[in-house]
Amino acid sequence: MYLTREQERLLRGDYGWAIAKAMELLVRVGDAVGAGELVEVKHAHVSGISYSNIGKHGLDLIIDFYRGGGRARVYTTINPGCIDYSGFSRIIDNRYYMEQRAIDNALVNMGFKPVFTCIPYYYRPPLPGEHLAWGESSAVIYANSIYGAYTNREGGPIALASSITGYTYKAGLHILDNRVGRIRVRLDPMVEKYPVGAIGLWIGENIREIPVLTGFKNMGFGDLKVLLASMAASGSHAIAIIEGVTPRKTFSLEIRDEVFIERGDLEDYIGPDVSSRDSVLGYIGCPHLHPLELLRVKNLVGKYGGVKRGGLLITIPPEYLTRFHDIVFYLKSRGVDIATGTCPVVSVFKQRYDVVLTNSGKAAFYLRRIHGLKTRISPLEEVVKYVCGH
Ligand code: F3S
Repeated sequence: MYLTREQERLLRGDYGWAIAKAMELLVRVGDAVGAGELVEVKHAHVSGISYSNIGKHGLDLIIDFYRGGGRARVYTTINPGCIDYSGFSRIIDNRYYMEQRAIDNALVNMGFKPVFTCIPYYYRPPLPGEHLAWGESSAVIYANSIYGAYTNREGGPIALASSITGYTYKAGLHILDNRVGRIRVRLDPMVEKYPVGAIGLWIGENIREIPVLTGFKNMGFGDLKVLLASMAASGSHAIAIIEGVTPRKTFSLEIRDEVFIERGDLEDYIGPDVSSRDSVLGYIGCPHLHPLELLRVKNLVGKYGGVKRGGLLITIPPEYLTRFHDIVFYLKSRGVDIATGTCPVVSVFKQRYDVVLTNSGKAAFYLRRIHGLKTRISPLEEVVKYVCGH
């Protein structure tokens, strides 16, 4: 790989152990995927920081980078960890509080912004064509597809290495020629009322190349967020071209096939019916809720009279606790459980439920696989209606 003089100095250790190690990682991965050079990034988003996922080994690695002098050279945000920062959730277990705080303290002392959310674009919306180094598959696909930014789907260590060097390897979706939509995907009109989480899981699992989503542009951004996150969960997608949404000049098209999604395709992805004997947890907020979605949930909970059956968990960035205090207080007073800076996928449950009813295909996908839970996907309003006893 070609390196500038400055990059060679970083690699040689002139600026300390942590930067040298981070450069070595980037160069090795870049060489392995055939990258010819490094590219400067404007924003790194570090995922893989939940203690319940990375354990002691991951904690030690982060501390090593901190003690070795690693500091953010570019704007850097942090993904959710495994504790509820409000401390009030009755559903999320804070058993790893000390370990998660040790990780968080190291990252914050390195200069990373403590947003603890998987919607980093809410704090810094990227520009079309801007190079990023983001972990968190749901954020990556959103950045590429909605904003026209350029990022690969990075693991936590690569995003961290990019933060403290300011570079990533130039390959994959950092190159315009690799952003080519090939399979047009349309929805049968009968399917348009189906939960977008299930549609996303279907696309993720059944389409191998970059999909071109036709007829999706009238979906709200909350639904697009859930759709894209679900695609990235069941498949390895990092971009979808959404006609009328994805900024022009950040992709090209060479359509070679077209598929229609029909009703029968989705039943398996939605999951089994909920029985009246099941204890049901409604879950909304994967990815974390945008403020407008939070307001929508508040209005729906008000409309349907508060939680009366099972429970309703929502997950949001910690900072909403103060910024949207009135909404949070209202929801809590109507029986909604709110966890901040985490989600049930990357944390530990305090209580067991028979079924999780969620609008998110990503949450359903991982709660089935990681926690062995029965899940059912429903549109957001249906989730609220159910737990409110309607
Ligand atoms: Fe975010 Fe957790 Fe879903 S990190 S995308 S809420 S799995």
